[in-house]
Amino acid sequence: MQQIATIAELARIPWKEFVYRGRPAILVQSEDEIRAFYNICTHDGGCCALIGRDLVCESHGARFNPVSGKALSAPAPMGTFLTKISVRIEMGAVFVD
Ligand code: FES
Repeated sequence: MQQIATIAELARIPWKEFVYRGRPAILVQSEDEIRAFYNICTHDGGCCALIGRDLVCESHGARFNPVSGKALSAPAPMGTFLTKISVRIEMGAVFVD
């Protein structure tokens, strides 16, 4: 089990990049939900950042829902999702397996 962040950290900055199983990943808090995804855009593998209310790909600007991971705009193919990573919240911290 790997600790990614504390709830207090996410209260200050609601997203954090990390590496999971050797691949880029992102933890994000939005609408009182804490989610993690592989940070690999479904268009061409770019990384996203939380900008406003959406995850936005830094390569070509595709937008993703930060709760579901669903693609919201091109050039990410519609109907695609960022791949979720299960998180566990215990004692004020966020963990992944
Ligand atoms: S790689 Fe993300 S929009 Fe192109």
